[in-house]
Amino acid sequence: MIPRWLCILALLISVEVKAWNQMPRKTVRYSGFSDNLQSWRVGISHYLTLMLDENRGALYVGAQEIIYSLDLDNIGKELRPQIKWEAPSERKMECVNKGKSNQTECFNFIRILQNYNETHLLTCGTYAFQPKCAYIELSTFTLDSVNLEDGKGKCPYDPSTGHTGLVVDGVLYSATLFNFLGTEPVIQRSMGQHNSIKTEYLATWLNEAKFVGSAHVPESVDNKLGDDDKIYFFFTERALEYDCYSEQVVSRVARVCKGDLGGARTLQRKWTSFLKARLVCSIPELQLHFNQLQSVFTLRTDHWRATQFYATFQARWGDVSVSAVCQYSIQDIQKVFDGHYKEYREQAQKWGRYSDTVPSPRPGSCITNFHRHHGMNSSMDLPDNTLNFAKKHPLMDDAVQPVQGRPLLVRKGVNFTTLAVHRTTGLNRKEYDVLFIGTGNGWMNKAVRIGSAVHLIEELQIFDKPYPVHSLVLSARRSFLFAGSPAGLVRLPMADCSKYRSCADCILARDPFCAWNLSASRCVESDNPYGDALRQDIESFDTSMCEVQYMKYCKFLSSINNMFDA
Ligand SMILES: *[C@@H]1O[C@H](CO)[C@@H](O)[C@H](O)[C@H]1NC(C)=O
Ligand SMILES: *[C@@H]1O[C@H](CO)[C@@H](O)[C@H](O)[C@H]1NC(C)=O
Ligand SMILES: *[C@@H]1O[C@H](CO)[C@@H](O)[C@H](O)[C@H]1NC(C)=O
Ligand SMILES: *[C@@H]1O[C@H](CO)[C@@H](O)[C@H](O)[C@H]1NC(C)=O
Ligand SMILES: *[C@@H]1O[C@H](CO)[C@@H](O)[C@H](O)[C@H]1NC(C)=O
Repeated sequence: MIPRWLCILALLISVEVKAWNQMPRKTVRYSGFSDNLQSWRVGISHYLTLMLDENRGALYVGAQEIIYSLDLDNIGKELRPQIKWEAPSERKMECVNKGKSNQTECFNFIRILQNYNETHLLTCGTYAFQPKCAYIELSTFTLDSVNLEDGKGKCPYDPSTGHTGLVVDGVLYSATLFNFLGTEPVIQRSMGQHNSIKTEYLATWLNEAKFVGSAHVPESVDNKLGDDDKIYFFFTERALEYDCYSEQVVSRVARVCKGDLGGARTLQRKWTSFLKARLVCSIPELQLHFNQLQSVFTLRTDHWRATQFYATFQARWGDVSVSAVCQYSIQDIQKVFDGHYKEYREQAQKWGRYSDTVPSPRPGSCITNFHRHHGMNSSMDLPDNTLNFAKKHPLMDDAVQPVQGRPLLVRKGVNFTTLAVHRTTGLNRKEYDVLFIGTGNGWMNKAVRIGSAVHLIEELQIFDKPYPVHSLVLSARRSFLFAGSPAGLVRLPMADCSKYRSCADCILARDPFCAWNLSASRCVESDNPYGDALRQDIESFDTSMCEVQYMKYCKFLSSINNMFDA
């Protein structure tokens, strides 16, 4: 029996959420493919890994045992013959014998495609539940299938599990499940075949983690403290720190330092700089918590201090799906990692803020000028008391709050999946972040951040079947968006201004990519910011500016009238 008060609460919340629920200004249903919506190979794989190479004009697509190199300007065209990378049949047999499916699992699903160096890509695949990595020579687009590397800890065994991987300065940072059974989450850096740094295998470090994304932030640049670059990881996990909801799933951000070499005795070959914090996305007054992080997009800026992370979240209230977008600043994340640690108090058997003295150097810190000044040049020189503390206190006490303290966008009855963000300049010379958000049933939401709010420009149905949009990349140079789902891949323009047929429609769209050309009477792409005949009003969408031409015409007519009257 569901208690009555719970029903009333759910009802109240559903009424409240309605007030929060943003509706798109336009809904455009799927209408087949056109110049604006190119598609490619429907039904090639359940999992697509996309990588953009603007310089070579290529989109690399990792699918089931195949890697494609597609022409960015015409995704129906392969720039180079595809690479076949199959798991050998004896591996597949082994995989089937271990109880995995010969239909959906025992193949080599390509899960990592990253720029490795100027000449090569790094790729990793599940290889029928025995992950392997290999290099692809770009000029010939060929895979070195002789020198395969062990992919354990780099790539998942199971293609359906969450994972993330990032190459920074020729080194792979990955977060995945380390073992066949998928019970051992790991965040790892792999240098060469045998030299890796990992997370401790402790529930306090990672507990049933599902990895979502990662980002490199070059924090060593312009840094007075002499701090190191950091790699951030985003994931969900089962929280240990709440007594009353032991089943609670929370979203997290964790970070490690690029130069971390592990400890000398304590934390040998383990991160000495691993710290994690809760990532909050909630509507505080409703007690509505979006705990299921789905994807993260890192918006890079000229200076790393202005880095922003946009993230999609899902939650369920009764039988209603609710989704949100929250934004986080690197500064807010740093503040939390510089704050108090959380600690398990054995006597009280609960978690609380650690309020005793903290060892020096500060546990979980990168090697900075302070360390070097005290004769510690690497994490191997850190004292045991700092490392023991770090091992026991991976979790920060404060949570990372979103910018504005609340979601930017909330929708009901929709599952947001992946997102990508493009920063553009309006005719008013102001910068706007345009958000593209895929859904669980084949739609794309387009929104623009205006001040503290978000305006939902439109929703487009980009797949004819209700498949989840699970991968998304933006080509800024070509103004295209590539979206992958189990139904295949589509390319769509970042803006299709011609669909706004009247001036009012064009202005009310509030799309920073579009403006009304008064002399041509058309809604056009506003990529020429100096056109004085262009009209756009993202902030106050004042359509009276549409009347200008008409008014002038009236004035002209009346002046002619006056002439005749005279
Ligand atoms: C998969 O296994 C089933 C029975 O275990 C067999 O009938 C089927 O032919 C196999 N399919 C493939 C593609 O090998
Ligand atoms: C890039 O990496 C590959 C694979 O390790 C190596 O063979 C190649 O020489 C490297 N190229 C450059 C320019 O460093
Ligand atoms: C750290 O580096 C400095 C200067 O390079 C050197 O003088 C010092 O001995 C090093 N300390 C340790 C503990 O290696
Ligand atoms: C959202 O996802 C959940 C879980 O996968 C599913 O049960 C629900 O039906 C989805 N909702 C919508 C509106 O697609
Ligand atoms: C507006 O349209 C006119 C007439 O077609 C054209 O000559 C002009 O270049 C356009 N202006 C801009 C800024 O697009």
